[in-house]
Amino acid sequence: MSVARSLVLGVTNNKVISSFANKHGLELGAKRFVAGETLETAIENVKILNSKGIIATLDHLGESILSLDRAAGAADEYIKTLEGIAQSKINSNVSLKLTQMGLDIDDNFCCSNVERIVSKARQLNNFVRIDMEDHGHLAATISIFKRLKENYPDNVGLVLQSYLYRTVADMKELSYLKANYRFVKGAYKEPKDVAYPNKEDVDDNLKNIIEQHLLEGNYAAIASHDEAIIDHTIRFTNGHNIPRSLFEFQMLFGISTNLQEKLAQDGYTVRCYVPYGKDWYPYFTRRLAERPANVMFILKNYFKH
Ligand code: FDA
Repeated sequence: MSVARSLVLGVTNNKVISSFANKHGLELGAKRFVAGETLETAIENVKILNSKGIIATLDHLGESILSLDRAAGAADEYIKTLEGIAQSKINSNVSLKLTQMGLDIDDNFCCSNVERIVSKARQLNNFVRIDMEDHGHLAATISIFKRLKENYPDNVGLVLQSYLYRTVADMKELSYLKANYRFVKGAYKEPKDVAYPNKEDVDDNLKNIIEQHLLEGNYAAIASHDEAIIDHTIRFTNGHNIPRSLFEFQMLFGISTNLQEKLAQDGYTVRCYVPYGKDWYPYFTRRLAERPANVMFILKNYFKH
């Protein structure tokens, strides 16, 4: 992990910096990555994406919740989001984090919160993607995913991270589920004993797990802005006659927008991850860490105000 990335991720949990950032609101520059603070604004942004042939996944931001009421409230919020999607007829599913649903309080409580959301998704013929957080939450996340996947096979999917050594083994163990995975490089600050420290290894592993999953006939969401990964996927799927209906590209709101539009125009399924809500600070710092040049952009913005 680069020093700059490590430094930026190091401030994610810093309370002083986080309250400073929240006070200065989205004007600090976070609005480049966050589609507003309300569901209504987020839906308006999805409508614009849909008009360009890009579908979406809505993320009501929040994580690391330690209160039962707040976690249950976060689940209620996701139910409203699914209802809002149905009512506004936008093309979007939802993505959520288990620590927002109470994973740090109790696994069963967390699972029942997520089950309420997944059950609503089934009723509305929609889909819930469980984001993957840091490796300390991985085993519990997989276990909850397995429980939900058994009862709601078509309405829940998971994220797998290529920077983790264990991902290949996890995929093998879960292969009987024929799951719909989103494959990412991984965005958290992880130690060398659990994650590849070198970018080349992370990239190679990402290609490897995508190939493996597709060759087994499963659906894959390739979530990366890295053109080398995207080109590789296109060449690989063409070379192995894997239909476009078996995979989609995913990118984040506000990043590589031209590339998102170009792929959609070329006939690929492109899904944009659209985060919204008031708790944007940890999401924002991960975006800064991925590209330290973003920090300069934010500082310039701040001094302009
Ligand atoms: P890489 O970091 O190599 O970047 C390739 C290029 O993309 C850069 O050169 C730059 O042009 C552009 N780029 C990338 N990040 C940028 C940024 N922040 N600002 C501006 N430009 C940027 N992670 C995780 O651990 N758990 C999860 O659940 C998810 N979920 C998720 C969903 C979706 C839809 C995406 C796209 C990503 C995630 N991630 C994630 C984040 C992921 O792990 C990873 O940190 C980022 O996608 C950055 O890696 P890239 O694959 O884009 O490549």
